[in-house]
Amino acid sequence: MPNLGLIGIQWGDEGKGKIVDLLSEYSDVVVRFQGGANAGHTIVADGRKIILHLIPSGILREGKYCVIGNGVVFDPEIFIKEISELKELGYLQDDSRLLVSGAAHLIMPYHKKLDILRETKSKEKIGTTGRGIGPAYEDKMGRSGIRVIDLFNEEVFREKVKRNLELKNFIIREYYGEEGFNLDEILEVYGSYRAVLKKYVNDTVTFLLNCISEGKSVLFEGAQGTNLDIDHGTYPYVTSSNTVAGNIMSGSGVPPSAIHRIVGVCKAYTTRVGEGPFPTELKDETGDTMRERGAEYGATTGRPRRCGWFDAVAAKRAIQINGISNLCLTKLDVLDEFEEIKICTKYRLGDKLYEVPPIDTYTYEKCLPVYEKVKGWKVNTKGIREYGELPEEARSYIERLEKILGVKISIISTGPDRESTIVRDRFFE
Ligand code: IMP
Repeated sequence: MPNLGLIGIQWGDEGKGKIVDLLSEYSDVVVRFQGGANAGHTIVADGRKIILHLIPSGILREGKYCVIGNGVVFDPEIFIKEISELKELGYLQDDSRLLVSGAAHLIMPYHKKLDILRETKSKEKIGTTGRGIGPAYEDKMGRSGIRVIDLFNEEVFREKVKRNLELKNFIIREYYGEEGFNLDEILEVYGSYRAVLKKYVNDTVTFLLNCISEGKSVLFEGAQGTNLDIDHGTYPYVTSSNTVAGNIMSGSGVPPSAIHRIVGVCKAYTTRVGEGPFPTELKDETGDTMRERGAEYGATTGRPRRCGWFDAVAAKRAIQINGISNLCLTKLDVLDEFEEIKICTKYRLGDKLYEVPPIDTYTYEKCLPVYEKVKGWKVNTKGIREYGELPEEARSYIERLEKILGVKISIISTGPDRESTIVRDRFFE
């Protein structure tokens, strides 16, 4: 398989976990390069549902290597929990298959606390997952962060935690009026992670460069989605990393020439969790039906997801930014019940029409969708595996999306399990 980047082109939750799980059959290595345990990749394998937040979804495939790259913010508590869950289910028998970059930044308890305090005590709510992602990336950029490798130098680690606590405790106590953290307690808890983590921590850049020069195929697994990108998303209602394909290189250490193709993943409709613009949002019965049929509740927080029609304006921009060559369309079966299906092809604000999303989030928030309508199919498509077996209206919908987006829809998912998949184009072989 060529080296692929797999990127969500909506607001996250596009069903990337399932597609990574499918494509990882054809790759040797799967890499996470950004984000952290804010992601929730749900995979149904061998009839069992597994939700992974940090470990790449490729871990469910025997013999594949999985890498948590330097661009990830790494929560050791969640990592250790996932390892033990995977082992209990009979996965990850060979620990040498899982590598964690020593250069990844550690999520510390104060990051999580600050994330939650900001969300609960300030007026400007982002609707974060509360996993400490924003505060950890802030420290990374502010050069006060603590990296995974620091954990293994007790003196350095102690000094860094101590220095961080001086400011963090001041903010937590004086600004928020809450209880701060105790240095020794943190040192004890993080010290207890050392022995478990040791065998996974590595120089993942050297590992990946070697894999590439040996001709192994690598799959880069994006988390969140393009519209949540810190630069290209609906700022400030975004996550704190670059979620676009451009970050594969910095988040993993491989050169651009090593990536052969970028694959996009989107749902047949749109969802979003947290605050921020969402022109096609349906706050009515149709939206409720989508939520119930699609089980649209956050994999990380359990929050109900906001649901709406397919937003081709945002999707088209995401396709351009990422250089998407093939699309995977997920959850087609969720639309089975609808008489009529809508595609948003433009935004409107007063008498101004937008073909691309406005940069100004506050303008974006006021935009209304301009819809094109297509006929629904009102037939059960769940589990269909052949394109020709889809009802004609479903095929028309897919082909209309291809025309509007200018990209081939190569994979269509018709249910959560591996088997419920239509492959129209084996671009991955
Ligand atoms: P944070 O990444 O936890 O800081 O959250 C920032 C925004 O990104 C919030 O709107 C979250 O709901 C959203 N977000 C973060 N991770 C995911 C994800 O994996 N899927 C969907 N939304 C996400």
